Amino acid sequence: MLIQPKIRGFICTTAHPTGCFEAVKEQIEYVKKQASFSGPKNVLIIGASTGYGLASRITASFGAGAKTIGVFFEKEADEKRTATAGWYNTAAFETLAQEAQLYAKSLNLDAFSHEAKQRTAELIRQDMGQIDLVVYSLASPRRIHPDTGQVFSSVLKPIGQAFSGKTVDAFRGEVKDVTIEPATAEEIDHTVAVMGGDDWARWIDFLANEQLLASGVKTIAYSYLGPKLTHDIYKSGTIGKAKEHLNTTAHQLNQKLKSLKGQALISVNKALVTQSSAAIPVVPLYISLLYRIMKERGTHEGCIEQIYRLFKDFLYASLPPSLDGQGQIRLDDREMQQDIQNEIAARWPNITSDNLATLTDIAGYRDDFYRLFGFNLPGVDYLATCNPHVKIKSLDDK
Ligand SMILES: NC(=O)c1ccc[n+]([C@@H]2O[C@H](COP(=O)([O-])OP(=O)(O)OC[C@H]3O[C@@H](n4cnc5c(N)ncnc54)[C@H](O)[C@@H]3O)[C@@H](O)[C@H]2O)c1
Repeated sequence: MLIQPKIRGFICTTAHPTGCFEAVKEQIEYVKKQASFSGPKNVLIIGASTGYGLASRITASFGAGAKTIGVFFEKEADEKRTATAGWYNTAAFETLAQEAQLYAKSLNLDAFSHEAKQRTAELIRQDMGQIDLVVYSLASPRRIHPDTGQVFSSVLKPIGQAFSGKTVDAFRGEVKDVTIEPATAEEIDHTVAVMGGDDWARWIDFLANEQLLASGVKTIAYSYLGPKLTHDIYKSGTIGKAKEHLNTTAHQLNQKLKSLKGQALISVNKALVTQSSAAIPVVPLYISLLYRIMKERGTHEGCIEQIYRLFKDFLYASLPPSLDGQGQIRLDDREMQQDIQNEIAARWPNITSDNLATLTDIAGYRDDFYRLFGFNLPGVDYLATCNPHVKIKSLDDK
């Protein structure tokens, strides 16, 4: 099969197995070049196949030699379609982990379900005994409630009043105005149900009750705040409400984990091109401008650089991590530097379709987007046919 990118709106419906392999290998190579650190031993990553979760799995594994169990929700290839990128990423990760004699097993299940929690618990009990780190890195548009079966859908909308602003169609190169009507009360509740902390707390409660959390266990979830420019749509919008709930959950989990001398943390990460951030209005244009300025200043970081820094300098540093007033780790410190944000605010009103390529790093945005799906990787022959049916070893062994 010849595999080419097929872009539909803000997603790509194809993925390239060899390209995904190379992209995972690049992240692993990055970690291997950095200093190793004394980190976690047995790690569960929920949302382990792409973005920040995949980078967490790679860092724990190749940076600290940890055993990892990854939970995600991806699709295998069929007669008509390629697998999803996260499927190929995981196949690549397991192959490379195995070569390095690192334990890696995966579960392709709906993390919100009881079944996912039970199956994960069985695997931990069988292969690890207990775990000392749980990374919660889910980004999902919907959740089926495990007890009631109710389906919640998350929305990316402002709260209270309509938002009008600039956004970009990155592939057409068009800067345009968007107006988004405010969320209803139900939409706010649904977004909090999907992207807030309820499921994170259920995972931790369940694993604690099953006595699968080691003494001194840490658990971390990822958040985003961003600058004033995106507040209406992010921090003060529906997703921001969900992130507030996530932070409140972290405080509650901290209380619950006291008896285990455990800790629950939130890390506020940098805005990066991932499958989920591409779906947020305004954010892709902001990211294009942010990339431009951070690359000019030499402070740009991708998922793997961020997460390696998180593990080495915050989570597993010799001193306790410094936290902001809300008790959160601020890995977005470089993004939020005042001079960078001043520059973004100054350039923002002037961006049009005509000067998009010169004022912003839209080319870098597109390139990163293609790479998420295994395209644009150097050394991969995209004109050669390749087999889309790739197995994930630990799933195949079942
Ligand atoms: N991308 C950014 O700019 C950014 C910035 C800061 C924080 N974050 C946060 O980081 C976290 C991860 O986001 P990302 O951008 O890496 O997302 P992503 O889309 O790259 O990854 C999402 C992961 O969740 C998994 N997943 C989705 N639904 C699932 C389900 N029902 N069951 C099991 N797995 C499921 C996917 O398989 C994938 O592994 C989110 O909380 C996000 O808000 C993202």
